[in-house]
Amino acid sequence: MGVEDNKKRAALEALKWVHDARIIGVGTGSTINHFIDALGDIKGRLDGVVSSSEASTLRLKAAGIPVLDLNAAGELPVYVDGADEANRHLQLIKGGGGALTREKIVAAVSKRFVCIVDDSKLVQVLGGFPLPVEVIPMARSHVARELVKLGGRPDWRQGFITDNGNVILDVHGLSIIDPPHLESEINQITGVVCVGIFARRPADVLLVGAAHGVQTLP
Ligand code: 5RP
Repeated sequence: MGVEDNKKRAALEALKWVHDARIIGVGTGSTINHFIDALGDIKGRLDGVVSSSEASTLRLKAAGIPVLDLNAAGELPVYVDGADEANRHLQLIKGGGGALTREKIVAAVSKRFVCIVDDSKLVQVLGGFPLPVEVIPMARSHVARELVKLGGRPDWRQGFITDNGNVILDVHGLSIIDPPHLESEINQITGVVCVGIFARRPADVLLVGAAHGVQTLP
């Protein structure tokens, strides 16, 4: 029983939170890929899905699930997505897959955000996982200098361009004691498109897959 099994357990549990929703939001990553595969079995119940990345869109379409434009879909009843780290306040670090901006948008328009992780991602303090920050390319060095002033060690994710045409700085060495405060502080830096702290709009439900089953928080 490994991490992949635990991701899959959490993903299957998330199906129960879809209830009778006709349109849902779907995130990005290896955990969500399990969810998309399972969604294929109940696709007849759905009008469609709002996707948070080109990668998920491809997988959804391959499974025969219609992908909808968020502007036409309106408010969503439920959004299911993974995370790189989660604490017990359901605050998250996201963006390991580089889809953080669209993920934050879909989370913002969703009534209930169901986050699915394996148990290795549950931490006391966020920041062990390098914090992704999406940045307008010409502002990369400026934003990096500002992040150093905040105590981080930004590392340019070279060769990676986001779905929005921007770059990612992965910030090492942060111990994020006050996630909502740091989220706001980094959002204020000119040139930042999005920071991968999801604390001002945390998850509403966290499903933690482990060898013994799935724990539901809170
Ligand atoms: C992508 C994300 C993912 O949810 C996060 O990176 C977790 O990915 P995985 O399920 O592959 O561990 O935020 O931007």
